[in-house]
Amino acid sequence: MANTILIGAQWGDEGKGKIIDVLTAKADIVVRSQGGNNAGHTVIHRGAKYILHLIPSGILRRGKICVIGNGVVIDPIALIGEIDGLRKLGVKIGRNLLISNCAHLVLPYHRLLDEQRELRKGRARIGTTKRGIGPAYGDKAARTGLRMSDLMQPIVFSKKLQAKVLENNRILQALGAKPISFREVNESYLAVGKKLRPFIGNTVVYLHRALERDKEILFEGAQGTFLDIDHGTYPYVTSSNTTAGGACTGTGVPPHRMDRVVGVMKAYTTRVGEGALPTEDRQFTERLHGLGREFGATTGRKRRCGWFDALVVEAAAKANAFTDIFLTKLDVLTGWERIPVCVGYHVNGRRYDVLPASQSDFHHAVPIYEELDGWTEDISGCRSFDDLPKNTQAYVNRLEELCGARISGIGVGPSREQSIVMHSLLPIR
Ligand code: GDP
Ligand code: IMO
Ligand code: MG
Repeated sequence: MANTILIGAQWGDEGKGKIIDVLTAKADIVVRSQGGNNAGHTVIHRGAKYILHLIPSGILRRGKICVIGNGVVIDPIALIGEIDGLRKLGVKIGRNLLISNCAHLVLPYHRLLDEQRELRKGRARIGTTKRGIGPAYGDKAARTGLRMSDLMQPIVFSKKLQAKVLENNRILQALGAKPISFREVNESYLAVGKKLRPFIGNTVVYLHRALERDKEILFEGAQGTFLDIDHGTYPYVTSSNTTAGGACTGTGVPPHRMDRVVGVMKAYTTRVGEGALPTEDRQFTERLHGLGREFGATTGRKRRCGWFDALVVEAAAKANAFTDIFLTKLDVLTGWERIPVCVGYHVNGRRYDVLPASQSDFHHAVPIYEELDGWTEDISGCRSFDDLPKNTQAYVNRLEELCGARISGIGVGPSREQSIVMHSLLPIR
């Protein structure tokens, strides 16, 4: 039995979509447990590019079941748009998709509130994706949210929605924004609700039956460790638990049924949105953007880029108890003569070898770099660790040493095949 949780080790966009697609070959079921359509997971298959936002990245493999768990917040209009878009590309979506009746809904007032709050914060903004994620999770925590099960009961839904629209219109007007029409939202949501009905059910029961039958489950994390509402760089975070525990609460599968936690980590660091990024480097960022790399998969925004930060991933390895790490985008570093790796910080004259506990210290962290030798050889065709040039091997080995978790996979290009998968990622059973 090998139930695997896959988690972003940095600030998201580590290449989780591709790795999920690679690992789905050996799984029966792929589950999303948190986040919403703020996620953008890219999978390149047979030259075609697919960007998944709400639907698990396992959907591209035939015969696999995809589940959207109770911990996800779902914008039903966006979800139907995604289903239709994938069907147009020839992806089969029918009995292979299951959606939790307990998942909370993202409504138009959530998106508008997200936008207004960001506007009002000015320079202190978070830089959200403006998909309404924060306000939707806020309603869930305040126990005033609407769930998929409500949408399946039109009379109940309309009644609850009417009260929520009334309340939120007052807030929107106070913020200087236009109110929304209950009638329009009600009609459009009930119409998509009808289309979603065949997919909705009790996913907790489904997953437990699957466990009884020894099915192998892959838990697809969205965002990354430092965007976690508890463990991340608060307040510059998203509103869900992106760390390993979120896979349990967001699906109803208990911790003792999990076998492996795989961290996906980029060979360097990126971040989209605001918040500290100690190793951010302007020259490196401009070079990557010039090559057409590191643009957001959801919003198209330029990602901020920096050198590999070992303190960040070491902390992620602890918070998630990574059993393995999949190192991605190693090919992107080809051509740099020397590659800096952050091994410590100076904060107000004091040296740190682990992440500072205080956010304000983290914001003032000045990286201490160790420089490693680069390589110029094209590594995109390498399929085993031994195929990699010596300096590349040394870079991987040093990262493994610094992070304290074994590197069991390496990405050398965006496609499924451009992967080096080591022994320990093979099935446990
Ligand atoms: P996710 O949100 O973690 O799924 O990552 P994104 O899809 O937002 O961004 C990762 C980007 O890197 C996508 O454009 C992928 O196609 C690409 N990618 C993933 N792995 C690799 C790799 O090993 N090498 C290269 N060059 N690109 C990769
Ligand atoms: P994937 O799954 C990178 C960032 C936003 C912003 C903060 C809060 O593709 O890795 P939100 O809209 O969630 O309230 O925004 O979190 N963010 C992501 N950054 N990858 C993501 O998802 C992200 N999802 C949210 O940019 O800084
Ligand atoms: Mg992404």
